[in-house]
Amino acid sequence: MAAALDARRVVAAYGEDYGTRYFKYGPLMERKPRIMESVGLFLEDSPLLREVYGIDKKLVVDYSEVMRYLGAKEMLVRNLIYPLKDGEIKREDERSWMVVTELTRKGLKQFEDYKKKEGFEGFYVTAAIAARAPEYMVEKLLEVHAKIDRETGLVKAFTVIAQPLAVAIAEKELTCVVVESGHGNTQITPINSYPIREAIISLYRGGAEADAVAAEVLKDLGYGDLASDEKAVRRFKEEAGLVPLDLDRAVRAARENPQKFSCRVKLSPLLEIDLEDRGWYRFLIGEVVFNPRHEIYESYKKRGVLNIRPTVVGDRTIEGDVPLSDAILQSISETPVGIHELLLKKVILSGGNFQWRVPEELKGVAVSAREKVEHMLRARGLSVEVRMTEDPQSSVWKGCVVWSLALPDSYLWDENRGEGWFKRGVHY
Ligand SMILES: Nc1ncnc2c1ncn2[C@@H]1O[C@H](COP(=O)(O)OP(=O)(O)OP(=O)(O)O)[C@@H](O)[C@H]1O
Ligand SMILES: [Mg+2]
Repeated sequence: MAAALDARRVVAAYGEDYGTRYFKYGPLMERKPRIMESVGLFLEDSPLLREVYGIDKKLVVDYSEVMRYLGAKEMLVRNLIYPLKDGEIKREDERSWMVVTELTRKGLKQFEDYKKKEGFEGFYVTAAIAARAPEYMVEKLLEVHAKIDRETGLVKAFTVIAQPLAVAIAEKELTCVVVESGHGNTQITPINSYPIREAIISLYRGGAEADAVAAEVLKDLGYGDLASDEKAVRRFKEEAGLVPLDLDRAVRAARENPQKFSCRVKLSPLLEIDLEDRGWYRFLIGEVVFNPRHEIYESYKKRGVLNIRPTVVGDRTIEGDVPLSDAILQSISETPVGIHELLLKKVILSGGNFQWRVPEELKGVAVSAREKVEHMLRARGLSVEVRMTEDPQSSVWKGCVVWSLALPDSYLWDENRGEGWFKRGVHY
């Protein structure tokens, strides 16, 4: 009996990672999450769309679809909504909740054919949100899923976990520090079976800051008109950006040997950006993720390009530009002394913002996020081990589907623990 049930749960396990920039979702059976951009466009009523193209939708989500409607720029600015800001949605922000509902619905409906599978009664959905997300977000997400279940019959049970905990689950680690860095925020979370809440440091920075530096680099290269084209900037950042082991040394090396460090980035069939002798710019883009306090960014700060708001943890204020290593150490120092050593041995990096590439010929000068963080911590005289998850952008989703599989069917939502299943027929 148990075995038969387990087989069904494998089919029913479903994960959702609500990111600032990307929504990762889908059933365990698919092995990898699907990805949509967390974005929605409210369409203004237009005779062209309605009468000529026969489109009477009010809201479209995901970038590829949004792109089809991008006509007038003014319409865009007013009607384009990125619902999650630093991993959060305000309670009364109705338009953002509509976008989240539509993303969730669109995701689940892509797997309607699961209904044909034997014994399938709906998915067991685990959603992951930021560790410091306000509690009403859980309630709101429950409402969203109950509504979608009434429409589609696709959600049999629903639960929520914190993104960093999902990473620890995916990595099968009980005691570790998860550093989850996405587009909008970087969450440093010591975990000892459960996240140690008072030690969590959530910085308001992520890939977006690297985008900001990449946009400035584009301006300096004479492509000022591209700087406001988010997609182009991100492509350029991901292709050209490098993480230096040591910024000053890397810049020197690149200036001495410009050819070796140069690169070309093709942004469209018509546009290729050539860095020529300014390959050293590449290191500015990656360094900002790890140490925005470096003096090289002073002029950006003066111009307001790189203003990261501080984080308040208990009665402490942590500056937004704190070096990542300092923030990790500060977070660990808030945990019980007895586990400090264990935590230092298990620092786990995840999130798309750690996916920096390392070209073979530049190895040693340019490094991976793992090597960078290890280097920064060792410079503080600490023996540490840093690990990066196998597929950094998918690890939260992976933890979600594992949780969907593992959480016992009979374990119903427990408000005090913030754990358990909301179930069809019981809670909605
Ligand atoms: N190869 C790469 N090099 C550098 N950055 C990358 C690479 N691949 C993805 N990124 C960056 O990772 C970020 C997206 O990561 P992720 O999907 O983890 O964020 P998110 O979950 O949407 O945001 P958050 O977790 O902050 O809410 C983007 O800024 C993207 O540009
Ligand atoms: Mg994320």
